[in-house]
Amino acid sequence: DWTMAEFRKTKIAEIRAQVGKGRVICGLSGGVDSAVAAVLIHEAIGEQLTCVFVDHGLMRLNEAEQVVTLFRDHYNIPLVHVNAEEMFLSGLAGETDPEKKRKFIGKAFIDLFEAEANKVGGADFLAQGTLYPDVIESVSFTGGPSVTIKSHHNVGGLPERMNMALVEPLRELFKDEVRELGRELGLPEAFVGRHPFPGPGLAIRIPGEVTKERCDILRKADAIYLEEIRAAGLYDAIWQAFAVLLPVRTVGVMGDYRTYDSVLALRAVTSTDGMTADVYPFEAAFLGRVATRIVNEVKGVNRVVYDYTSKPPGTIEWE
Ligand code: XMP
Repeated sequence: DWTMAEFRKTKIAEIRAQVGKGRVICGLSGGVDSAVAAVLIHEAIGEQLTCVFVDHGLMRLNEAEQVVTLFRDHYNIPLVHVNAEEMFLSGLAGETDPEKKRKFIGKAFIDLFEAEANKVGGADFLAQGTLYPDVIESVSFTGGPSVTIKSHHNVGGLPERMNMALVEPLRELFKDEVRELGRELGLPEAFVGRHPFPGPGLAIRIPGEVTKERCDILRKADAIYLEEIRAAGLYDAIWQAFAVLLPVRTVGVMGDYRTYDSVLALRAVTSTDGMTADVYPFEAAFLGRVATRIVNEVKGVNRVVYDYTSKPPGTIEWE
């Protein structure tokens, strides 16, 4: 596509002009945006870029490994992988307030990132995969009052603290354009086509207290849900699909036994930019299949419900 080929060339020239001989540090979140930004910047300035992946342990099943493999093996881009699961889980212990969870994760992320940046000898620029909707939505909700709905953890905070100039080559792009650019840069389709994933990860898909045990339950259920969506050929028709592990237990029956376990909510929406969204209208048989598999295969879940709320008035994530 000539547009993206053109955009790539222009941005590479811009990045070179902005950075000169300076050093750039880029935080990878595990998602598509930061990966595309990093690969583009690497193409522009090569070894002047250092990538840091602060792994909060709140990723989906096998996701952290995929990021590390993609960068180290596929692109041969040096990557510092910080495994901080314990630190994040202990910091989240006992916390149930959505904004406090988000703020803790954002701050811990910045602290760890800054420590790594210092270890590699500092840098002159900070690269981020900020998209156009991130810029808008962290300021105000379109059409609504000018209040913060959620503190997105990928914008703000870091730049002021680290006193570094920003390199944000995706700032004018929407998600579909970032994917196109990713393809243009040769990222694997399975990675580029991946549904968006929020910076705070599974922590905001576990209303109430986040524990390692609950993360593991959610990871298993979420993987089954996505496996069924892929098997049904629906993955690319959906903007985002994920499971939410609720802090509610209900009574059920398995064989001759009474169960008293957690409720899991399934969410799937269509959208073009995440700012508004419609519920994906699964067939009843599909939802039935997913519910049966999850209750049978995931210990700790005995009831599955489907979220039928569009955005607005709901948001896509539950916290
Ligand atoms: P909401 O829940 O606000 O989500 O309707 C809109 C889109 O943004 C994603 N999201 C985030 N992305 N950092 C991110 O990078 C965050 O803190 C964050 N919170 C929500 C969400 O998954 C959806 O695609």
